[in-house]
Amino acid sequence: MSELVSQLDEAKKVIQSKCGEVPELVIVLGSGLSELANDIELEVEIPYEEIPYFKSASVQGHVGRLRIGSLQGVRVACMLGRLHYYEGHDMTDVVFPVRALAWAGAKAFMLTNASGGLHQDMSPLDFLLIRDHINLMGTNPLMGENPEALGPRFPDMTHIYDLALGKILQKAAKDLNITVREGVYVGTHGPTYETPAEIRMYRTLGADVVGMSTVPEALALRHMGKRVLGLSCITNMAAGVTPAPLEHSDVLANASRIYSRFSKLIGHCIKDIGVEVGKK
Ligand code: HPA
Repeated sequence: MSELVSQLDEAKKVIQSKCGEVPELVIVLGSGLSELANDIELEVEIPYEEIPYFKSASVQGHVGRLRIGSLQGVRVACMLGRLHYYEGHDMTDVVFPVRALAWAGAKAFMLTNASGGLHQDMSPLDFLLIRDHINLMGTNPLMGENPEALGPRFPDMTHIYDLALGKILQKAAKDLNITVREGVYVGTHGPTYETPAEIRMYRTLGADVVGMSTVPEALALRHMGKRVLGLSCITNMAAGVTPAPLEHSDVLANASRIYSRFSKLIGHCIKDIGVEVGKK
């Protein structure tokens, strides 16, 4: 058996021993968005340290816990804190937690993040449904040995982000009168924010928002045939779009300002998403 598969088996056993069946739906909370986990009626919380091969998240705004319970009657696993490539983790470690949950039976993943907006007509506190992404991280979590049990060597990435799940989110946004843009997320490895010249380049390449996460998890999950919804909260205008310099504290502060609409949006669509995920 491949080393990765045996590690995933170990992690799966520990997760299942603590929560029984793993929820079909996983929510990964981005920078400053972890408060959503407070809306969950708690069944069990597992610190990452207790799960084999889960590295602890270290960046400010991220903690490392898996919270399992019910959100509006839908059983979910919520990842509080994710690993970032810029922390120096290997890509395999960055995607290990989502792979382990997928391996343990989760079928769909809502990946949320904070991002910088690339266009003048965007504002901090806008939402963007990720339709596609550009991987500018300079690497790929699928490099190296490919255990066929996870997925094919050369997986198709034409539809990484699930159309049906995106439609449900947009319907909820319409009901709530919340605008959710749609577009392309460019993932960079960070940890520096970008230069204005890089931002001009990303715009030319067809990107709409920029961030330092999500791409690795989305690639690894699609490889495993899982459904992915990507929701980006624009916390700032990207470098050079306005003259203001970027501060991580502003990103976190704006994420917490978005939070009440974010929580309403997720709360409003979670039942329909749960039903859709149960279908296949
Ligand atoms: N650039 C990269 N990552 C980010 C940004 C940004 O402007 N905002 C939030 N995450």
